[in-house]
Amino acid sequence: MANAPGFNDPAFASNKSLPLHRWVPWIAGFSRDFVQSALERHMKQPGLVLDPFAGVGTTLVEANLAGHDVAGFEINPYAAFACRIKTQAYRIEPSALEKATLEFLSFHEDASRNDRKPKAQPPEGFRTRTAFYSPKVLRKVLLTLDFIEQLNDKSASDAFRLAFASTMVTYSNYSYEPSLSRKVSAGRPEVEDHAVDQAIAGKLYEMASDIDWVRARMKGCKPSSIVVNESFFDSFRQIKSGSVDLLITSPPYLNNYHYNRNTRPHLYWLGLASSPKDFKELEYRNFGKFWQTVRENERIDLDFPIADEEIRRTLGVLRRKNPENGVYGGRGWANYAASYFNDCYRFSKAARFVLRRRGTALVVIGNSILQGVMIPTDRYLARIAESVGLEVVDIHIPRASRVGSSIIHSEVRAEKAKKGGQLYEAVVELRKR
Ligand SMILES: C[S@@+](CC[C@H](N)C(=O)[O-])C[C@H]1O[C@@H](n2cnc3c(N)ncnc32)[C@H](O)[C@@H]1O
Repeated sequence: MANAPGFNDPAFASNKSLPLHRWVPWIAGFSRDFVQSALERHMKQPGLVLDPFAGVGTTLVEANLAGHDVAGFEINPYAAFACRIKTQAYRIEPSALEKATLEFLSFHEDASRNDRKPKAQPPEGFRTRTAFYSPKVLRKVLLTLDFIEQLNDKSASDAFRLAFASTMVTYSNYSYEPSLSRKVSAGRPEVEDHAVDQAIAGKLYEMASDIDWVRARMKGCKPSSIVVNESFFDSFRQIKSGSVDLLITSPPYLNNYHYNRNTRPHLYWLGLASSPKDFKELEYRNFGKFWQTVRENERIDLDFPIADEEIRRTLGVLRRKNPENGVYGGRGWANYAASYFNDCYRFSKAARFVLRRRGTALVVIGNSILQGVMIPTDRYLARIAESVGLEVVDIHIPRASRVGSSIIHSEVRAEKAKKGGQLYEAVVELRKR
């Protein structure tokens, strides 16, 4: 394992103020600087860059800006929508967007002067413990949907939908802590009223200014970008075998962080989901599934051949932990970890399929502590990749510590985690022979 002076910190935080990346906050995204350093190292000439778990498109955006063709897979329809708009940003006319933003502000002003009743309705299937929006905020949100509905220009309408979605939690009674939960549970007051139109307009002006920046930066060079809103496992054969020069990605960590549940408001309010059934399907097709999905199953084991016994042994130790807790103890968590490593195998096989000879894959992944058992996910992924014929070039550790995951949120659990070892983030560097 090496510390990696050549790689920048992969955490997303620094993206929050950067052009294009600031459009959509994403808790588990990685940083622009990390992707830039990876591209500089590995892409000496224009080629094809793939992100099989694209999130909100950090890899895709940066690779496009650097002049490379890109392809991305993203199972979550909201994240895939954000990826598409960000990678196609140069097509949106900034002056038209600014004009539409002014019209939007007048529309709201006029509606409030005339006390206009909104036509739009909240999404039917979207249920929350307490009202997601207070009545005054809800009215403004519904008026916003009315305005978007009458826009004829598809790219302006997409930009408005994204601006609404990326700000919608701010003026709701919920927040990310880091999972979506009620503001009152975090000791914060409910949002009785808010200048929703100003929040959305502010985002739209930011977007228009970034589009100008992108256009100037790309100067007519428009590398291609494909975003597929499907599971990489089901659809990787859409990519020609041996065509990818560099794969940069960060799959979900083994920490049960629930991208789908955390984007429930966005998915429902944008009409990308209409019932819990939509979420069930996403869960089953998600990398590693989720603990909730597999904990009740009969014993789940590794379903691929690997001579190395360590992964199996660790799963055995985990399985025997806290038997008194039933599926909430080691038994349930071992099912989840086994499902996760089975997907590491599927990922490794698919990566081998899409990469060209001597092509590189950089996989940002964090270790985990489940039921007090340290799981070095980076090393296990490396071994699994090796077993399918990929070369493990190195495991870099750009960030030697990271704060807790969604499993380790309470003080007690955080203490336990510290005793069990340190959480870190790694970049597993693989190469096709
Ligand atoms: C750690 S995030 C990636 C964040 C990304 N690096 C960024 O900067 O935005 C992992 C992503 O993988 C997606 N995902 C999970 N399972 C998937 C699958 N089977 N196929 C494609 N995407 C998947 C999740 O929805 C999530 O957005």
